[in-house]
Amino acid sequence: MTQRPFIIDCDTGTDDAIALMAAFGCPEINVRAITSVNGNVPEEYTSANNLNLTEYLGIDVEVARGATLPFYPRGDYYGPTHGKTGLGDVIIPDACRTSFSKDMAPEVIRRIAEEEKGELELLVIGPMTNIAIAISLYPQLKKQIKHIWFMGGAAKGGNVSATAEFNIWVDPIAAKLVMSAGIPMTMVGLDVTEKAVLGREEEKELREYGSKASVLTADILEYMFKRCKGGGEDALMHDALALAAAVIPECLECRETSLDVEFRGEYTAGHTVTGVCNRRVHQEANASVALELHLDVFKKWLLECVKRCGEA
Ligand code: RIB
Ligand code: CA
Repeated sequence: MTQRPFIIDCDTGTDDAIALMAAFGCPEINVRAITSVNGNVPEEYTSANNLNLTEYLGIDVEVARGATLPFYPRGDYYGPTHGKTGLGDVIIPDACRTSFSKDMAPEVIRRIAEEEKGELELLVIGPMTNIAIAISLYPQLKKQIKHIWFMGGAAKGGNVSATAEFNIWVDPIAAKLVMSAGIPMTMVGLDVTEKAVLGREEEKELREYGSKASVLTADILEYMFKRCKGGGEDALMHDALALAAAVIPECLECRETSLDVEFRGEYTAGHTVTGVCNRRVHQEANASVALELHLDVFKKWLLECVKRCGEA
C-alpha cells in the first residue's frame, strides 16, 4: 500500500494527543512531521506535549515548534478544558533523547510539500495560524498541498459562543486566509464532532489491551470523564474524527458547499459561514463539510488504530 504523506498541525491538547496516537497507528498514512501551534494551551506546552508524546511512544518523527500567537491576539483566553499543560492530569515523561526540528512549522511545511511533489496532505486540528503563515510566506503551497482536513467550525452552532468553534475563534484571520487559498479542504466541525463521544466501554477495552498508547488513551479518557462530571466537556474525539474523515470517509456524510469565515465582528469573529445553513450565501462550493456521523464505524476504527500505535 502506498502511504499518503501527512503533516499534522496541532495544539496538543487531550483530544489532539488521541488523534496523534491514532495517526501513528494508521497504516494508510505516513506522518512526515508534527507541527505545534498555540491553541488549547500556550505553544510551549503544545510543543512539549508533542515531543514528549512521540518520544514516550517511540515514534521517530520530526516535531517542530510553531506560532505562539494568533494574528489578532485574543489575550489570556486559556480555559480549564485541557488543564494547565494541555494533557489534563495525565503526566508523561519529559523527552530526553529527542529534540525539536531546527526548522519552525512554516518552513517544515514548505520543505516537505516540496519533497512530496503535490502529494502532501495536512491534518489541521488546532488554530490555523501556522498554515496561514506558511501560505503567506510560500504561496507555491497553494498548488503543492493536496488536501487540508481540518477540525474546526460548524455549519450550525459553536462552543466558544453560539456561533464560533474554538479553533476558528482563536485565529479567524488565519482561517480566512487558509479558506480562501483555493486548497481542497474538508471541514469536520462541531456538527459531527460533538457526537463523537467515547465512553467507559472504550476506556475499559483500551486499558485491558495494555499497550503504552492504549493505556495512555485510557488515562486521557479517564481525565475527560472527570472533566465532564465536573460540568466540563465530555470525552469528545474532535480531532481524531478529522483524521477519520481522511482515512475512513464512510464514517461521515459530507456535502460540497461554500465555506467562509467571519473575521471582523467583535462578537461574531470565528463564525464559519457555509451554504448549508445560509440561504443568502450564493458562492461556489469550495469545501466538503461533514454533517452526519456513523459513530459505531468511527469508534471501532479509532480503537483499532490506537491499539496499533507504537507496535512494529
Ligand atoms: O473545538 C474543538 C477543538 O478545539 C479541538 O481541536 C480541541 O483540541 C480544541 O483545540
Ligand atoms: Ca485540537
